Amino acid sequence: MKLFKDAGHLFRLAGVFLLGTLSFLAIRAFVVPHSFGQYGHYRGAAIAEIAAHPVHFAGHQTCETCHSDIAQTKSAGKHAQVNCEACHGPLAKHADDPSIDPGKPDVAVLCVRCHSASAARPKDFPQVDADQHSGGIPCTTCHQPHNPVIAAGGAK
Ligand code: HEC
Ligand code: HEC
Ligand code: HEC
Ligand code: HEC
Repeated sequence: MKLFKDAGHLFRLAGVFLLGTLSFLAIRAFVVPHSFGQYGHYRGAAIAEIAAHPVHFAGHQTCETCHSDIAQTKSAGKHAQVNCEACHGPLAKHADDPSIDPGKPDVAVLCVRCHSASAARPKDFPQVDADQHSGGIPCTTCHQPHNPVIAAGGAK
């Protein structure tokens, strides 16, 4: 075997390579989750896990079945397109069991979240410099949150 006379280093290298491949396969089998590739290049079980998360938002249709008076007030005003939970936060628990008191939104942070003057907002979106505009008085002293436009002659 003249050809392989000095080939020891080649076999050693091949051995190292083989060992590397085997340990790669062993570690891979150990760390890749079983459901990987079930549907595509991701962990299939993630779908069921996400679907199992509890629902936090009830959706405005649900609120409106019980609070039809407020839905009516709101639909007549400028907040018609702003849905209940955008202001009240996720209230699925209260909708399932109305004896759970949802509390009321903190007006001091709620209104300015959407209406504080900012160059980043569209120019035609109604916005105010809150301190100057309200003089520190809570927004809801003058604006009804479910129908915020103040009729001529004062607050509704
Ligand atoms: C199954 C009927 C029902 C559903 C659905 C429901 N509520 Fe209520 N809600 C009530 C009742 C009853 C009360 C207590 C009496 C009242 O204030 O009208 C209440 C009270 C409230 C209050 C007043 C809390 C306070 O401190 O005065 C808010 C705010 C409220 N609900 C918001 C919502 C929102 C937002 C939704 C939708 C995510 C919703 N509710 C869905 C029945 C319901
Ligand atoms: C623009 C924000 C906003 C939206 C949208 C909104 N709310 Fe409110 N809501 C408030 C605020 C703020 C209060 C608390 C007013 C206060 O402290 O007197 C409130 C109070 C309430 C109350 C207590 C009773 C009352 O009239 O004060 C109920 C019930 C309620 N909201 C239900 C709803 C429902 C149902 C919807 C959707 C149809 C809705 N809200 C949409 C901001 C909002
Ligand atoms: C989630 C965002 C959001 C929150 C929170 C919110 N608003 Fe609004 N508001 C809107 C949108 C959207 C409009 C409609 C803008 C339009 O017609 O272009 C509006 C319209 C208004 C208008 C009418 C402006 C006009 O003359 O056209 C007033 C006043 C107002 N809001 C006051 C309030 C007050 C007071 C609060 C707190 C109780 C509040 N808003 C909370 C989104 C919000
Ligand atoms: C002392 C009464 C008062 C208070 C407090 C008050 N507003 Fe107003 N606001 C008014 C009046 C009056 C108008 C003009 C009539 C209208 O457009 O409804 C107005 C107009 C607005 C407008 C429409 C501006 C536009 O360019 O069309 C927005 C948005 C608004 N207010 C948000 C707020 C917010 C947010 C707060 C709380 C930080 C607040 N207001 C507190 C009286 C008040």
